[in-house]
Amino acid sequence: MTVPIITIDGPSGAGKGTAARLIALELGFHLLDSGAIYRILGLAATDAQIELDDVDSLVSLSNSLDLSFPYDAEGTEIVLNGAAVGDQLRTQAVADAASQVAVHPPVRDALMGLQRRQARDPGLVGDGRDLGTIVFPDANLKIFLDASVEVRAERRYLELIQSGQTVERSAILRDLEIRDVRDRTRKVAPLVPANDAYVIDSSDKTAAQVLADVRDLCRAKGLA
Ligand code: C5P
Repeated sequence: MTVPIITIDGPSGAGKGTAARLIALELGFHLLDSGAIYRILGLAATDAQIELDDVDSLVSLSNSLDLSFPYDAEGTEIVLNGAAVGDQLRTQAVADAASQVAVHPPVRDALMGLQRRQARDPGLVGDGRDLGTIVFPDANLKIFLDASVEVRAERRYLELIQSGQTVERSAILRDLEIRDVRDRTRKVAPLVPANDAYVIDSSDKTAAQVLADVRDLCRAKGLA
């Protein structure tokens, strides 16, 4: 029997992480925050003073990562080699490093096994950019969650302020626009909806409304 898989892809700030965690909680499924994998790699490379285009070093770093994503109603914990990583992944600098390491095909290949291993009984909900197109092309349900760049920047701004960081609204908007272009135009695994993905625009929706849409799609697919 194959494990049921739900993928939620989309740009930063569209609400993927929250929607993925809440539906995983309802279904009792495992969770994969694939963005955190690229963020960990970006952070680890920066800490080890590895250049973000030194592909060989990035690949060996990728092969050393052992990650899991325990979660509850409040949030998701990232556990790297047995230790919780905490909030240090949620900075603009780390997000930017993540999107730079993510452009290299050998790095993406090296991280494939780690992502696919998360698909365990009774099921998996994963969020990212290419989960429905590349990592899990046979997923039972694929969702592409989008929102206007202004709405996404405002959400990211509030998130960073609430976590105690000092940030400028305009800088967040600019960083998101740069990262969007890099993610959408890269040669390998660009951010595009899978042909068979359901597109949800969350610009005018609350997290609860997005969850309700996702729940309806799960029911329609016999997953809930
Ligand atoms: O989702 P999050 O903002 O944490 O992702 C950080 C960066 O990691 C993205 O901007 C993207 O470049 C990269 N990423 C990716 N493929 C994924 C998830 C994230 O390339 N599946």
